[in-house]
Amino acid sequence: MILNLAFMFAIFRIAIAGDPNILPDFMARNNTIDANYFTFTEMRQLVGGEYPTTFKALKVTMNEFPTLNGQSVSYVILEFPAGSINPLHIHPRASELMFLVSGSLQVGFVDTSNNLYQQSLQIGDIFVFPKGLVHFQYNNDTKEPALAISAFGSANAGTQLIPTSVFNTSIFEGILDVSFRATRATIRKIEEGLKQ
Ligand SMILES: *[C@@H]1O[C@H](CO)[C@@H](O)[C@H](O)[C@H]1NC(C)=O
Ligand SMILES: *[C@@H]1O[C@H](CO)[C@@H](O)[C@H](O)[C@H]1NC(C)=O
Ligand SMILES: *[C@@H]1O[C@H](CO)[C@@H](O)[C@H](O)[C@H]1NC(C)=O
Repeated sequence: MILNLAFMFAIFRIAIAGDPNILPDFMARNNTIDANYFTFTEMRQLVGGEYPTTFKALKVTMNEFPTLNGQSVSYVILEFPAGSINPLHIHPRASELMFLVSGSLQVGFVDTSNNLYQQSLQIGDIFVFPKGLVHFQYNNDTKEPALAISAFGSANAGTQLIPTSVFNTSIFEGILDVSFRATRATIRKIEEGLKQ
């Protein structure tokens, strides 16, 4: 009996591992749609384009491309000028599968036992950031930019930036002092840095 329950629980876990399933093939309000409904053209801006001067994430989630609603997939195109970082963050609803198309990247994540896994990626490498874990990406090259494409197993993986969510949301400072075992002055210094 106990084994049966464990087995059923395992099946249940698999069933809720991604976005909810939809019953129609795709979500559309009417039947007058054509292939354009399944096409997103805004990334054409990348063809022959210049790198930005600061780190930039171009998202293709259900917010930018509503057709993805119900399809359990999305992309983010990540542009890293020399020396830039994608700060510590998590994606609450999906794993991230990152493909490094050009340049080099230092990447890493921390698991729930606080083990740090970090890697130095070269062009052509693919790295997976497991769902919901704190991670970062850093272009530690002083001259060359880097370009990466990340796929997500959700149409809306979500992004929670750690610095912003902790230090830029008016959490009572007493909570921050104790949580970080830091003085109020130290906490204020971090908060001020993020307000600029
Ligand atoms: C049909 O649905 C598509 C996609 O949801 C929308 O772009 C289009 O305007 C709709 N057409 C009509 C006639 O409502
Ligand atoms: C960045 O590169 C410098 C020079 O190669 C190296 O000393 C440093 O450890 C690197 N930092 C990271 C985080 O990879
Ligand atoms: C911090 O919050 C302020 C006010 O909401 C905002 O203007 C600023 O961009 C935020 N900083 C970061 C790093 O998100």
